[in-house]
Amino acid sequence: MTRDWVEWHDEYGTPGSPLARRREVVRGYLRPLLDRPRRVISMCAGDGRDVLPLLPAGSQAVLVEWDPVLAARAREDAGAGVTVLTDDAGTTTPYASIAPADVVLACGVFGNISYEDTQTTIASLPSLLAPGGTVIWTRGGAEAEAVRDLFAGNGFTELGFTAPPDARFRVGAHRLSRDPDPYLSGVRLFTFV
Ligand SMILES: C[S@@+](CC[C@H](N)C(=O)[O-])C[C@H]1O[C@@H](n2cnc3c(N)ncnc32)[C@H](O)[C@@H]1O
Repeated sequence: MTRDWVEWHDEYGTPGSPLARRREVVRGYLRPLLDRPRRVISMCAGDGRDVLPLLPAGSQAVLVEWDPVLAARAREDAGAGVTVLTDDAGTTTPYASIAPADVVLACGVFGNISYEDTQTTIASLPSLLAPGGTVIWTRGGAEAEAVRDLFAGNGFTELGFTAPPDARFRVGAHRLSRDPDPYLSGVRLFTFV
């Protein structure tokens, strides 16, 4: 069954809901990173409202979202320098114009792909990042520990990890602490399940 991602986004409209709280945590990690114009990628961006309100003028961003309704919502809020692509975020191709990025958002991705694809994606992130670039990611429940391990094993340093005791969502922020890899187009990262 294909999930209705537009309906999934409705929970953001309920103050205090897990999704609304998760977005505030994501924004909390983003704010200090967006202290000046940056190059930003959002994979599976949804309506983009985690990052779009925080982008400083002069930033460049590519948001990739498959659902045309959600992509249109993101476009409504997109300022100059922001490109919203209605496209498959699961290959490196849509990031050609923005890599290497200072910040990559992978929120709501790892819970919807296989562990093997999570491994592949995290191993490939250094090819999308500038030196010292940061990934902000989410994953529900205990599986987030495996994601932390994968970042650690691929040359990232943890800047922060939030695991509220009364909610299932987890949010991590990891900075690339080795040299980036060269960008390559056409590399398959993941397929949504
Ligand atoms: C769990 S939601 C996360 C949305 C947003 N990142 C957030 O955290 O609010 C997953 C999103 O991925 C989108 N999606 C699913 N498959 C995709 C693909 N292959 N390429 C791009 N977006 C995809 C869905 O339409 C949905 O908006």
